[in-house]
Amino acid sequence: ILKNPIIIASGTPTYGPANVKKCIRSDAAAFVTKTLCYTEWLRQQPRPRWHVEYPEAIEEGGYFSLYSTERLNPSPPEEYARKKMKEYAREAHDFDVKVIASIAGTDGETWAKLTDLATENGADMIELNLQCPHVEKGQPTGMVAGRNSELCHSILQQVKGRTSLPVIGKVLGEGVDPIKIATRMIDGGADAVVLTGRYQGLYLDIETEKPILWGGMGGYGGFWQASITRKWLVRASEADLKAPVIGGAGIGSYEDVISYILCGACSVQVCTAVIVYGHKIIKRWLRQVSGWMDAKGYSSIADFSGRAAKNIIPPSQIPGDTPYASRIDPGACQKCLRCMEACPYEAISVADKKLVVNLEKCDGCRLCAALCPHGAVEFFER
Ligand SMILES: Cc1cc2nc3c(=O)[nH]c(=O)nc-3n(C[C@H](O)[C@H](O)[C@H](O)COP(=O)(O)O)c2cc1C
Ligand code: SF4
Ligand code: SF4
Repeated sequence: ILKNPIIIASGTPTYGPANVKKCIRSDAAAFVTKTLCYTEWLRQQPRPRWHVEYPEAIEEGGYFSLYSTERLNPSPPEEYARKKMKEYAREAHDFDVKVIASIAGTDGETWAKLTDLATENGADMIELNLQCPHVEKGQPTGMVAGRNSELCHSILQQVKGRTSLPVIGKVLGEGVDPIKIATRMIDGGADAVVLTGRYQGLYLDIETEKPILWGGMGGYGGFWQASITRKWLVRASEADLKAPVIGGAGIGSYEDVISYILCGACSVQVCTAVIVYGHKIIKRWLRQVSGWMDAKGYSSIADFSGRAAKNIIPPSQIPGDTPYASRIDPGACQKCLRCMEACPYEAISVADKKLVVNLEKCDGCRLCAALCPHGAVEFFER
């Protein structure tokens, strides 16, 4: 039902008319609204609420971290659904873009009211936010509810029993077994699950001995989450979940989009990359994914979804005895000595002002090649 595999995830890029316009014109197949909720304080936005660790890494698609305490949709749910979402949906449908209403109830009554609002006001699907990192102990929503697989199951059952729309469960990625949570969501009727959301983190100022900026914990993520998400996608493939899986946190490049699908995702959700690169990144990635598919001879997502999941070797079967070694190309080596200092076997030394590997001592571990910033280490099978 989606025209392509990229969905803009719930967050800053999907809130407010200007951003929604950009979502609709971005060529993304769908966007998820900022999460609707009735809890007053979750709709207020702390100021300041953003911190970026290593912003210089953003340009290169590197491992910066986006740390924020942006809470949920500031609009009262009735007002948002009946006025804004209805209008957004009308425009989105003209562009064949689906609207996924994200909701976060706190009890049976609020889940029911939010489900009805989404169903009656133009949404094509509903997503249950069971991973928001900003909720408090004892408040059964977001990550607090998302930790409890039986509560997830019953919320899914309730919402599914009330709407004819497809329902997506958004799965927490930390402190739980996401596959167990996803399985119970699917048992409860989820039509798809998102693996996973971002984490809760903490930055401290060691002078004041307090959390930085806003004084509490925050949502924490970045492109470094991609490798963990790929792991969960493969685990989901192994568990043979009975519903499609949407790849969640960590997408920072079109290669990540492809790799999530290779690990078993049917589509992907992107938030951080849209925040730091703008909505225009979606068009570029779609072109690049398409180019890769053409080169590979794939004509649909189903042609390659899950193909890499089948190639994962279990730990006990990874060979432990293949003989390898390294040698250093003196033309490329900049003599930074990083490899020499790191080699756990003291196999690298300086001779005649060049770095050389003693093949007698070299274990073939590949640490030197992995660390060399200049690609000067050649790694070969003996
Ligand atoms: C600033 C910010 C606000 C977010 N707000 C919401 C939200 O309201 N509801 C929700 O379900 N997820 C929210 N998310 C989580 C994203 O939808 C997404 O799951 C997460 O950021 C991981 O994907 P990414 O690595 O592409 O950012 C937010 C994320 C960020 C960074
Ligand atoms: S890390 Fe690379 S550049 Fe640095 S000394 Fe070793 S081979 Fe040379
Ligand atoms: S492969 Fe490992 S053991 Fe051999 S030189 Fe490099 S770091 Fe040392």
